[in-house]
Amino acid sequence: YLAEMGQGTRSEIKKLIRSGRVMVDGETVKKPELKIDETTQKVSLDGKQIGYAKKEYYMLHKPAGVISATKDDRDKTVLDLITDKKRNDLFPVGRLDKDTEGLLILTNDGAMAHRLLSPKFHVEKTYLVQLNIPVSEEDVIRMKEGVDIGEKRLTKPAEMKILAEKECLLTITEGKFHQVKRMFHQLGKEVVYLKRVEMAGIRLGDSLEKGQWRQLTEKEIEKLKEQADGKKEILCSEERKNTGNLSDMG
Ligand code: URA
Repeated sequence: YLAEMGQGTRSEIKKLIRSGRVMVDGETVKKPELKIDETTQKVSLDGKQIGYAKKEYYMLHKPAGVISATKDDRDKTVLDLITDKKRNDLFPVGRLDKDTEGLLILTNDGAMAHRLLSPKFHVEKTYLVQLNIPVSEEDVIRMKEGVDIGEKRLTKPAEMKILAEKECLLTITEGKFHQVKRMFHQLGKEVVYLKRVEMAGIRLGDSLEKGQWRQLTEKEIEKLKEQADGKKEILCSEERKNTGNLSDMG
């Protein structure tokens, strides 16, 4: 319940519970595995009640021509496409360019969205890319080595798989503005078509037509949570090794 309400990762919350900072219906609880009924029970952390708001997760097959925003005066937004949504607090997890198609995750879970987008978590995003001229094995190597797109550092290693003469899959773990287009531009090629096919282990697949959406399944939501929590654990131990402290962890 506390993790879902954005009070920290599952492992952080287990520690909070064991240290006696959590109460259920006015009684201190010390067992993280305790199940609660969110419709009737009152949960508090450090004396502050943590109210319940159901978290929801959707995937949208974004068509070209709509923008990844919640509201816009001129253009149609991705939120305009989710017509019969029950709530109005959804937002897209990251952005796709107006002309980019494919997988967009939408949620009202701010903590989860933050983790999926944080550069610290290296969440993988895979794009189907079509180029104006043929791609080569040299491009595959350049993408792996990192490309200078005018940022402070080279891009992180990206995995490129050639599918056809002018078509490939590219998996990146960052989300810089126009990143895929800028990476190929740097290799002397222009992106003529871009579609995100996978993010954080969630595949778009081919069951949704452009403009269609569905709720994520329980299994997919679990996958997102494991990604965000699990990667943080790995990162914490790596940072501990490197820096000896965790004070800058988000
Ligand atoms: N990279 C881009 O250049 N555009 C997108 O929409 C996503 C990744």
